[in-house]
Amino acid sequence: MTSAQEPKALRLLPNQIAAAEHFYACFQASPAFIATAPGRINFLGEHTDYNQGFVLPAAIDRTLSLAIAPRTDDSIRYFSADFNERWTGSIASIPPALRQWPDYINGVVASFRNAGLPLAGFDLAFGSDLSMGAGMASSAALEVATALALTAAFGKPLDKLDLVRYAQLAENKYLGVKSGITDPFACIFGKAGNAVFLDCRSLKYEYLPVDLTAFALLLIGTGSTQTLTEEAYNLRREQCEAGVKALRKVYPQVKSLRDANRAMIEYSLKDRVPDLIYHRCKYVVEENLRLQVSADALRRQDLVGFGKKMFATHAGLSKLYEVSCRELDFLVELARHEHAIVGARMMGGGFGAATINIVRKNLLSDVMNRIGESYRQEFGSLPNFQTCQLADGADLSAVDQTNLGEMRYFGKL
Ligand code: GLA
Repeated sequence: MTSAQEPKALRLLPNQIAAAEHFYACFQASPAFIATAPGRINFLGEHTDYNQGFVLPAAIDRTLSLAIAPRTDDSIRYFSADFNERWTGSIASIPPALRQWPDYINGVVASFRNAGLPLAGFDLAFGSDLSMGAGMASSAALEVATALALTAAFGKPLDKLDLVRYAQLAENKYLGVKSGITDPFACIFGKAGNAVFLDCRSLKYEYLPVDLTAFALLLIGTGSTQTLTEEAYNLRREQCEAGVKALRKVYPQVKSLRDANRAMIEYSLKDRVPDLIYHRCKYVVEENLRLQVSADALRRQDLVGFGKKMFATHAGLSKLYEVSCRELDFLVELARHEHAIVGARMMGGGFGAATINIVRKNLLSDVMNRIGESYRQEFGSLPNFQTCQLADGADLSAVDQTNLGEMRYFGKL
């Protein structure tokens, strides 16, 4: 190999070192590969992905790192540093979902196995600085990191979109959550400094730079243990499908809410379906329109104009789609009265987790103090504040097994 082809040495992230160390401690051996996958935020486009609409997520600088080594038998052994728990099984008999963290790994293993991809036993250890349930799609990060690690361990490279699909299949088929493509897509296609404007029907995407020189991205976690259940999520999906079915009687060309416009909703749907179905569909159609206008605002770096749309999205999610909760509504209402916050809304599937706020950087600490105090007075505890940067998507490194501290760059996806 000439020096030009020599893989670059890579500086390890603290999380990658931790994953490798946990691997050593658990399995008394060196891992062969380390996959790292980021969490995501979503600027706009909530519950639009499974309606074949638009979304605007971004990968962030919080990651999950997963160390893996293949085995020569059928055993699979996992260690989660976040939960300080182990799980052991066999590749020959993956159990049904247990409603626990091993599900996300087992779900990817099951989707690889169903697709006939090469697999054998393996050892795996992971850890992250992505808090679970904080609305940063930690489960997608675990699924994507697993998919990436399995391709490396068993020598079958997949393209980026296939990785997205295997992660999504783990959710859809194994866990029974009919989630859309946003989370794994952002986790793999994220680019530092950019949001990803994705058309969930054609899968065409555009990177939109977000200039955060004067602004901070602030996530405010409610700490509420209530989250969107898969029943509530799947139900929203069915309600949208019911709307499409009713619309198709008048407009056979409508294949999903992506194809509907405001006039169709007001004049051909409203009187034909229960109010609840009308409200769900109205939100989705308006959100898709908002996305397109907002993408233009971002192209002009008009974060103030963009932020106004975030407030409008929140109102739709709360009143029409009904996936907010008292804590999220309270936080967005506080944000609306802060002149330093140009945009805020609940983020993710809903019912808990976090709000995303675009805040003038020079006033960030004042804002956090005021919001923290008001929230504490109302709910008895402080919310969780985190700022984040827009980061690159998942990557993979090969471990130089002779010296763990010296990793070789395996190649960014
Ligand atoms: C969850 C799903 C996504 C998306 C959001 C709502 O995070 O995983 O696919 O549908 O809810 O926008």
